Amino acid sequence: MSYNDRFIRASMKEHVDRVPVWYMRQAGRYDPEYRKIKEKYSLLEICKQPELAAEVTLMPVRKLGVDAAILYSDIMNPVASIGIDFDIVANIGPVIHNPIRSAADVERLKPIDVEGDLGHVIETIRILDRELDVPLITFAGAPFTIASYLIEGRPSKNYLSTKEMMYSEPKVWHELMRKLGDMVITYLRAHVAAGGKAFQLFDSWVGALAPADFKRFVLPTIERIFDELSDLPQPKIYFPGVSSGELLPELHNLKANVIGLDWRVSIPEGRRRLDHKFAVQGNLDPTILTAPMSVIESYAAEIIDQGITDPGFIFNLGHGLFPEASLEKLAELTAFIHTYSEKAIKAQNKGATSNV
Ligand code: CP3
Repeated sequence: MSYNDRFIRASMKEHVDRVPVWYMRQAGRYDPEYRKIKEKYSLLEICKQPELAAEVTLMPVRKLGVDAAILYSDIMNPVASIGIDFDIVANIGPVIHNPIRSAADVERLKPIDVEGDLGHVIETIRILDRELDVPLITFAGAPFTIASYLIEGRPSKNYLSTKEMMYSEPKVWHELMRKLGDMVITYLRAHVAAGGKAFQLFDSWVGALAPADFKRFVLPTIERIFDELSDLPQPKIYFPGVSSGELLPELHNLKANVIGLDWRVSIPEGRRRLDHKFAVQGNLDPTILTAPMSVIESYAAEIIDQGITDPGFIFNLGHGLFPEASLEKLAELTAFIHTYSEKAIKAQNKGATSNV
């Protein structure tokens, strides 16, 4: 089969014959074959075996027919290299054994050593670069989202300790953002050098901030990350996570190509808030996948109709897939997105020519 570059073309706002689709957290837990592998190995153990991590990355590409692969890894993986000791605990998520609480804790963080500590991630990317016939998306966690785990020590609802540091110790906070920003830049550059074809910066929890605080405490580092990587021709995605609609107008100067939207803001409203500067990706509420197929398809059709009015649209969920999602429904949804959007784009092109 020839290489499918629709995801790259849509990211660059180029013409596509059908809408590309991939799903955040598509490697995974809804798949009985993955759950079998997880009975034997933890997430970190899988990541340390490049052949197996590559296989887990490939599974959803084969089974769902998506237009991009996302590296099997976790946003926490690189922090092992800067001196953070963590585990991914079942039914909880990342748990940090030495949370960051003080200036001295931030001081102790080392620069990332990708080749020395994360060679397994680089090797997984190299294997996938040989095996895939769709683009490989690699990713990093954004500094606020990573900091929220490092400071809280585990997933949090209100980010009390994180915000305490931000508001009470702004110098320490900015130093932490600087160090995590450096980590992300070095890590993502290494992904691209190994064969990554695009990358996404996951800022899953930054929607917890007011726009003015986002601007003051987080955005300068996000802008620096995309500035420093702007020499790379690969598409760059910023996902500002859940409840981030109010932050979208702040993103105008970002040197990213694509912004991920959650479902609280419609595609046209998201584009308007972003001043039509970026391709957009989103934004089906993943819980809609619990509904009958006819309902799922009607929501997907509405999103596609909104998406294809402008160049630069990638179908995705507004947040990650959950373990209860069904493999069969996801495969059916992917096929529906392809056939429905192909017809809709054809009809649109015909309309455009007959209007001339
Ligand atoms: O998208 C993919 O399929 C690729 C793999 C991937 C994982 N984590 C593997 C994983 C990606 C892209 C991530 C990103 C990630 N990790 C984010 C950003 C995306 C988002 O959901 O907002 C965040 C916040 C994390 C941190 C994290 N890791 C949490 C909160 C959890 C537990 C909650 C959960 O969803 O299970 C994890 C564990 C984790 N990371 C699992 C997987 C497949 C589940 C546990 C497992 O299978 O061992």
